[in-house]
Amino acid sequence: MSLPWFDNQFPLYLAPMAGVTDPIFRTLCKEAGADVMETEFVSAEGVLQAWQRNRRYVEFEQQHRPLGIQIFGSVPEHAAAAARIIVDAMQPDFLDINAGCPVPKVVGKNGGSSLLRDLPLLQRLAAAVVKELGNDCPVTTKIRLGWDAQNICAPEAVVRLQDAGVQAIAIHGRTRSQQYGGQADWGMIDHCARLVQIPVIGNGDISSPEDVQRARETTAVAGVMIGRAAMNAPWLFSRAKSYLQTGEIPPEPTAAQKLDFMLRHTRMAIESMHYGDELVTMRAMRARLLAYAKGIPGSKALRPTLARVSSLAELQEILNPLYS
Ligand SMILES: Cc1cc2nc3c(=O)[nH]c(=O)nc-3n(C[C@H](O)[C@H](O)[C@H](O)COP(=O)(O)O)c2cc1C
Repeated sequence: MSLPWFDNQFPLYLAPMAGVTDPIFRTLCKEAGADVMETEFVSAEGVLQAWQRNRRYVEFEQQHRPLGIQIFGSVPEHAAAAARIIVDAMQPDFLDINAGCPVPKVVGKNGGSSLLRDLPLLQRLAAAVVKELGNDCPVTTKIRLGWDAQNICAPEAVVRLQDAGVQAIAIHGRTRSQQYGGQADWGMIDHCARLVQIPVIGNGDISSPEDVQRARETTAVAGVMIGRAAMNAPWLFSRAKSYLQTGEIPPEPTAAQKLDFMLRHTRMAIESMHYGDELVTMRAMRARLLAYAKGIPGSKALRPTLARVSSLAELQEILNPLYS
């Protein structure tokens, strides 16, 4: 079973981001040219204990395909059983194991990047999920370089994961201790990509079409995964794709186009009821709107108001003066 989105292509992945890559945002990124996406992660234990309650984290629309559902866990049998429930219910295009998340809530349960401190366990867990899913769904894994600078283990991890039968590996080029600080180490990502036959997807600090092109030209990765830059500017996907295909970088959207985008995203989020009523949705949207607004002439003075916006009508009023 190989992953067809790598056939003669250099796919651009939208990175999984809890609280960000909800179904509406995925729709917008798909429109903007993202090739492959993943849901936010869901806990394997949560799936086993309360699938109906946890299902909302992994819901997706057909138009998001190819799409992976990401799980985290630390007990191989539980991860395998949770993967089976998810795959039977949702039929994703792949099931991704999170071995990179640094947050205490996940690491404290020995999941996420904690698995990088016990590579035999990571390998057993991946193998158990691969065995359970058989030909029903390919399995992939997302890792970091290691727990900290003294314990870089990605080179060993990728070989073990390949042996376990996973079909692709995304590598975020930082250690767990770095969290999101410092710079992603693309030299190490490249080194790991050359150690295995399965596709390796490079991740970390990709923020421009030139970054995407550089990864394709100068490293052995089979695709790239974009997180925070896509959160601020989803149009990066289409601009990067144009650059890869034609060598020309299309201009950034105009200020008016960005404002339209902010209103559209907000309207879609409210209509979807994904977060709840309009006020709850607006609270969830505030950080997103502030990120989109960066760089729009005149927006700086409006940031405090944007940070408190509580309805679509109010947002429209705030943004109106910026159109001129
Ligand atoms: C708000 C936020 C939430 C994240 N949630 C997840 C997650 O659920 N699963 C995961 O594997 N990585 C998660 N990540 C990490 C990203 O997928 C990605 O690896 C990281 O942001 C580095 O890529 P970037 O430099 O392009 O942002 C998250 C990152 C951010 C900023």
